[in-house]
Formats: sequence, C-alpha cells, structure tokens
Amino acid sequence: MAEEKAKRFIQSSDVTDGQAYCANFGAHKPGMSMAEVAEYYSKWAEDYEHDLSQDRYLGPSFACKAVSEEYPLTTTDRKSIRILDVACGTGFLGEKLKEEGFTYVDGLDPSDKMLDVARTKDSYTNLYCEFMSDATLPIENDKYSCVVVAGGMGEGHIPCAAVTEMIRIVQPGGYVIIVMREEYLTHVQEYKGRLEECFLKFENDGKWKRCSREVVPKYSFDNNGVIFKFRVC
Ligand SMILES: C[S@@+](CC[C@H](N)C(=O)[O-])C[C@H]1O[C@@H](n2cnc3c(N)ncnc32)[C@H](O)[C@@H]1O
Repeated sequence: MAEEKAKRFIQSSDVTDGQAYCANFGAHKPGMSMAEVAEYYSKWAEDYEHDLSQDRYLGPSFACKAVSEEYPLTTTDRKSIRILDVACGTGFLGEKLKEEGFTYVDGLDPSDKMLDVARTKDSYTNLYCEFMSDATLPIENDKYSCVVVAGGMGEGHIPCAAVTEMIRIVQPGGYVIIVMREEYLTHVQEYKGRLEECFLKFENDGKWKRCSREVVPKYSFDNNGVIFKFRVC
C-alpha cells in the first residue's frame, strides 16, 4: 500500500514531488534500526526542508496550532511555558512556536546533522541529541509544561515504550501532544493494535486523560494526519 503510493508519486509529472516522497519513504522502510533511521536523517538533513516544505508537509503547522490552543494569549504568559519538541529535526516547529511567543522551547532528536540545522534557527533553549525510547532521558521529572511530537512517529521511529518518558517529564496538568500520519496507526507493526491501546492503558492507570483525537486532511502529501492531545495527571 505504502509502496504503491510511493510508485504513484515517482511516476507523477512533478518530479520534485516524486523525489520528496521517495526521500520521506526511505526514512520509513521496515526493518531499519533506530540508529539507521537517525543516520538516514543525517544524510537527508541538507535537503529535508526543501523536500518537506509546507506544500507537502503540514505536521509542524498542526502541532503549533495544537500547542497554541492550549495556551491562549488572553490567559497565558507564553514566556512561562516550557516546551520540549520531541523529534525536532531541523526545527520547523521551534520556529513556529517562537513566532507564537513561546520563548522556552527545547528540542530533542537523535540525528546530529538535523540538530545542526535546528541550531542555526536560534529558536531552541537546549538541544538534546537523544533517542526517545524505553531508556530514561537526562531530563528531570516534571520539567516541561508540554511535550509535543510532530512527525516523530513512524516505522523505526519513536516506539510505544517511549510514552512513559513523555509522561514522566511533563508536570501534572501539562500536555503531551502527538501529531502523526493516521495510517501509521495500522501500517506500522510497532503501533498496530498497540499504540492507541498503550494510550488507553495510561488513561486507565490514571497517568493522563485524553483531551482529543482529531483526524486532519493533507497532513503530509495526500495523507491524513491525526492529532492526539493528552493532559497529564
Ligand atoms: C519526519 S522528521 C520530523 C522532524 C520535525 N519534527 C518536523 O516536523 O519537521 C522525523 C524526525 O524524527 C527523528 N527521530 C527518529 N527516531 C526517533 C526517536 N527514536 N526518538 C526521537 N526522534 C526520532 C528523526 O531524526 C527526524 O528528525
């Protein structure tokens, strides 16, 4: 199914679209280890922003809107909000959050070359070169008001087990916001029958409450996205 879509894009009259789709598809090949995925992004870092420009990928825009909605300017001093942009890549989301008045945004990504690009934006307070996994991050409990993930979920990307860490580093009353391609919920083996179940288990265990689950069109290329918002207890 995904390969069929890739072929259609490659054969499309717009060569640039086809190349961009292929570059993105290459980062999501089944069987890649987490280290291989990070290495792939490092090789792609120079062209990433051209390939996944706003006309092809709206993940950072959806994520910025989702965060901003939870911290309205009328009632919030956005300068006091501590955000961690997980899988920040080249920093698309950090730039957008800065434009919205969020001044304390940290970024985390395992690809050193993607982080090199993010560093040039001057949008982040701290940048961590780390994988999000079942391992404990060098970040204290309850540090952030909000953890946000845009495009960090996928084949060989952030595993279900990393959700525990997201909750640990967000203070009670804070948010975890995950923006991802909808079809990955069923096409990615790691997530199929597991990711939403894991979300529900944390809700049943009283760790967080789901605020919303919204499906949005044209998240990336022609694919729907899904935006999950959780409030940590
Ligand atoms: C599609 S890019 C999204 C980047 C950025 N958030 C954006 O929207 O442009 C996916 C990013 O996830 C990162 N990534 C992959 N596996 C990861 C993991 N296990 N933990 C954290 N980040 C990961 C990659 O290095 C890459 O920068």
